[in-house]
Amino acid sequence: MKLREFIRKPVAKIALVTLAFAPFAWLCVGIFSDRLGPNPAEYLIRSTGTWTLRFLCITLAVTPLRVISGWPEWLRFRRSLGLMTFFYASMHALCYSLIDMGWDWPEIVADVVKRPFIAVGLTSLVLLSLLASTSFNAAVRALGAQRWRRLHQTVYVIAALAVLHFYWMRSAKQNFSEVVLYGAILALLMAWRIWHAWRVNQSPPGVRL
Ligand code: HEM
Repeated sequence: MKLREFIRKPVAKIALVTLAFAPFAWLCVGIFSDRLGPNPAEYLIRSTGTWTLRFLCITLAVTPLRVISGWPEWLRFRRSLGLMTFFYASMHALCYSLIDMGWDWPEIVADVVKRPFIAVGLTSLVLLSLLASTSFNAAVRALGAQRWRRLHQTVYVIAALAVLHFYWMRSAKQNFSEVVLYGAILALLMAWRIWHAWRVNQSPPGVRL
C-alpha cells in the first residue's frame, strides 16, 4: 500500500498513537520488572523529559513535512502529536513531584527556589496545558481561527523554554551534547517557518505555497 493512501486511513492515526505510547509502556515494564537502574526516579524523570522534547520536535516537523511533500494529509496527525507532547510533559512533572519529591509541597517549593530550571520547565508545562485544552474543534470555533492560531504560536515560546530548561539542568555537569542536538533541531524548524512565512509574503496574491 502506498504511504499516502495509508496516512489517509483512520488506522494510521491509531497506529501513530499506539507507537507514541510505546516508550511509556516500556517505562512501565521497567518499573514493574525493576530494571530502571540504581536510581529509578532519576531514570523516569530523564526519560520522560527526553521524550517530551522528542515529541515537541516531531509535532513542529508536521507543517514543514506537509509543505515539502505537498501532502496535506500529514496535518491529521498534528493534534495527536501535540497531545502526546503534553502527555509526556505531564508524566515528567508527575515523576518529579510524586516519585522523587513524594508530593511534599514545601519540599517542592524549596527545590524550585534552589534549582530555578524547574520553574522554567513548569512554565512550559502551564503553556502546554493551555494549548492542549484549546486543541479541540470547539475551542477553535469559540476563539476564532485567527486568535486560535496566535495562541498556538506559543509553541515556539515552549520550545525555547524547553531548551533553556535542559541547558540549565545540564550546565551543572557541563554536558551539552544532547542540548545542542535538540536545540539545533528546534532552531532549524523555527528558521524554516520564518523562511516559509517570508516566501508566502513575497509570492503574488493567489499563489499558494
Ligand atoms: C515542556 C516541558 C518540559 C520539557 C521538554 C522537559 C525536558 C527535560 C529534559 C530533556 C531533562 C533532562 C533529561 C536528561 O538529562 O537526560 C529534564 C530534566 C528535569 N526536569 Fe524537565 N522538562 C519539562 C518540564 C518540566 C517540569 C514541569 C518539571 C517539574 C515540575 C521538570 C522537572 C525536571 C527535573 C527535576 C529534571 C532533572 C532531573 C535530574 O536532576 O536528574 N521538567 N527535563
